Amino acid sequence: MEKWRDTRWTHRMTVHLDFNNMMSDFVGQGRGITREEINELAPRALEIANSISTRVEAGELGFYELPYDTETAEKIVKMAGSYRGKCDDLVILGIGGSALSTTALFRALCPPRHNLLTRRARGGQPRVFVMDNVDPASFKSVLDIINPEKTVFNVITKSGGTAETLSQFLIIRQFLEDKIGKEAAREQIVVTTGPRRERLNAMAEEEGYRLLTIPENVGGRFSVLTPVGLFPAAMFGVDILELLAGARYMDELCQTKKLLQNPAYLAGALHYLADVKRGLNIAVMMPYSDSLIQVAIWFRQLWAESLGKAVNNAGETVNVGQTPVVASGVTDQHSQMQLYQEGPYDKLITFLTVDNPPGTLAIPKMKEPREEMAYLGGHDMAELMKIELLATQLALTKAGRLNMSFILPEVNPFTIGQLFFLLEVQTVFTGGLYDINPMNQPGVEAGKQFINGMMGRSGFEDKARESRE
Ligand code: PA5
Repeated sequence: MEKWRDTRWTHRMTVHLDFNNMMSDFVGQGRGITREEINELAPRALEIANSISTRVEAGELGFYELPYDTETAEKIVKMAGSYRGKCDDLVILGIGGSALSTTALFRALCPPRHNLLTRRARGGQPRVFVMDNVDPASFKSVLDIINPEKTVFNVITKSGGTAETLSQFLIIRQFLEDKIGKEAAREQIVVTTGPRRERLNAMAEEEGYRLLTIPENVGGRFSVLTPVGLFPAAMFGVDILELLAGARYMDELCQTKKLLQNPAYLAGALHYLADVKRGLNIAVMMPYSDSLIQVAIWFRQLWAESLGKAVNNAGETVNVGQTPVVASGVTDQHSQMQLYQEGPYDKLITFLTVDNPPGTLAIPKMKEPREEMAYLGGHDMAELMKIELLATQLALTKAGRLNMSFILPEVNPFTIGQLFFLLEVQTVFTGGLYDINPMNQPGVEAGKQFINGMMGRSGFEDKARESRE
């Protein structure tokens, strides 16, 4: 069987999509997607592509503009540079889209045990703590180990009104004022928030905190390339201009409106067809690199909040959305894979793979004649990981289980920028296929309103009452 390969993309750092194992030729008739099914979707795909172009031009899909905003990125690099040598720890206060991108960038682009390295071995970069919960035990545990004078606290909230983040902020503000005084505290707090004047934004200006603005037309889970992700990344030494360059490159690749040539559209169409035509309503993302596990967790939010919707654009009740799941290769071969291979036919698996991992470890040859382990000697760990991936893909495909792969030549800011952008476009396009609005999150907002009411915020008395009924 001839494998599908797109040869137009020649940059040696291009992120590729391999979707062979989604297709009926590979996983079997009745299971896999057929060329005819993709072709049938092409006219609808073209309509969605045109509507995306119109919305981009109208400034409604702000995340499309971000890769080109190098001016903001340069300012951020300067601002991060002003803390150089003065900051041992960076603490992020935020939740959802305001936290997951930092964690994804940190895990992908900093060494695996960054926080455990000496300052020197970290290249002078701060340790990084992303506080995305209001569990007092873990929150306090960070306050116990940092030096307030040498810690930058980055409060991130697009709306400026999220109870979890604001509570964290109030605790930190008091903590800093108690420990180092109001004046010094100002220097240590950076507020990243939306542009609406009446919110946290205004307070940051009044109190003299450094302020970074999230564009109004970029939603939380699409904000990785705004100051939300860029400032922390610059603080921990990521080349953020390269990140944007990667996203720009992927934007070019995703300009084509031809379904089979656009990696983001194609990945979205395959997910959609797998769901509506084959009942695969669970989308597993399984990186075969520990560095990408948080990218999968970031994507889990993107896919869930964008596509999990009650009503379609015509206002009809549809209750759509695939459930995104994260699994870790190879670890979860020994935990989840049995289910994926033999359990219900309700999952499609997207592998994230890396052609050239940063290093490897040789597995030593044994002198003793022990057949049960001697065969491993002379191989190396990266090779073992790759073979386990191939074996898993093969076993799944033979069992008629749909799987596809995003292949990164290596993990670096350029490829990670591509991957983020690709997955964002994939999500918006798939929203078009489901005919829902992928940019809102009414369910999350409803929860926030109850929290406000139950915590006694004025203007939310009806929510407090409703919560008691
Ligand atoms: O994607 C979204 O809009 C949400 O997940 C938000 O990121 C999350 O609720 C946090 O909101 P905010 O940044 O306004 O504090």
